[in-house]
Amino acid sequence: SPQDLIFDASVMQYQSHIPSQFIWPDEEKPCLELPELQVPLIDLKGTESGDPEAISNACSIMDEACKKHGFFLVVNHGVEAKLIAKAHELMDDFFCMKLFEKQKAQRKVGDHCGYASSFTGRFSSKLPWKETLSFRYSAADQSNKTVEDYIVSTLGEDFRQFGISYQEYCEAMSNLSLRIMELLGICLGVGCNYFRDFFEGNDSVMRLNYYPPCQKPDFALGTGPHCDPTSLTILHQDHVGGLQVFVDERWYSVTSNQDTFVVNIGDTFMALSNGVYKSCLHRAVVNNRTVRKSLAFFLCPKKDRVVRPPKVLVNWEKPRIYPDFTWPILLEFTQRHYRADTRTLDAFS
Ligand code: SIN
Ligand code: FE2
Repeated sequence: SPQDLIFDASVMQYQSHIPSQFIWPDEEKPCLELPELQVPLIDLKGTESGDPEAISNACSIMDEACKKHGFFLVVNHGVEAKLIAKAHELMDDFFCMKLFEKQKAQRKVGDHCGYASSFTGRFSSKLPWKETLSFRYSAADQSNKTVEDYIVSTLGEDFRQFGISYQEYCEAMSNLSLRIMELLGICLGVGCNYFRDFFEGNDSVMRLNYYPPCQKPDFALGTGPHCDPTSLTILHQDHVGGLQVFVDERWYSVTSNQDTFVVNIGDTFMALSNGVYKSCLHRAVVNNRTVRKSLAFFLCPKKDRVVRPPKVLVNWEKPRIYPDFTWPILLEFTQRHYRADTRTLDAFS
């Protein structure tokens, strides 16, 4: 069974015949060379200090992007380049270890945190050509050490600095996502505090994606097609690139740029906006030349928060599309009902 297949990157990256569990059906095999999606670029400079022109420019681009496909880039985001570079660099410390060392943090089936490589992801019936390390980040308490404590308790004292760095990275991501939530609130006409307050003290997830080279990159996928069930995803891809997005019935690639984060709306925010803002299908391809890395921060509401659109977004012309839910309930539903060809949220009512 796929569960028994061990994905040992040190071996797999050289195999010219890849196991059948990684080979996608013809209609889902990826195209590696695609036209680029012109992802709207949002300049955050001046938005924090409340410059009305900066805010109005950012909001008009954001609003259009979120209505169309939910993907946009942010630049001048205030996150230090050194912190981002360090977060990429540290990934090697973990993923270059021997498999049995990484398995100290082995993620259990059904759990969302830990090291994963050799079982079917929730996103597909096929195995993803990647390894991941995921952990929770809780913003509830300013003095929290959720990431550092988790890393040290699973990987040992040698990983304390590693834990401290990702703790800091997650704090920066949480702050950035709250700033984006302020702008989304303005865009949707509920004011800058509405969604910021909703996500205050968020219980989020950080995932380090490590995609080893693959000798059959046009047969496999690093991450299968999916919509993020979370609220907002802030992704930083390294210079290699590989993210692809499905817009207007076709796949496009999203070029990587070290100065920007790729932000996308997830299903939970799509529901919060009563369907006005879209969460859109995307995937990640691999290549036969080099390792690819990406850092994904998934903003999630506190687990008992009821996801329900604000009153101004519901009226007789636009009745409620999705029922009330809490994040853990949607996540559980997504895991049971995922299909590559449909949006999970559409089946959730
Ligand atoms: C994902 O969407 O889960 C991964 C995207 C990426 O690695 O670019
Ligand atoms: Fe995703």
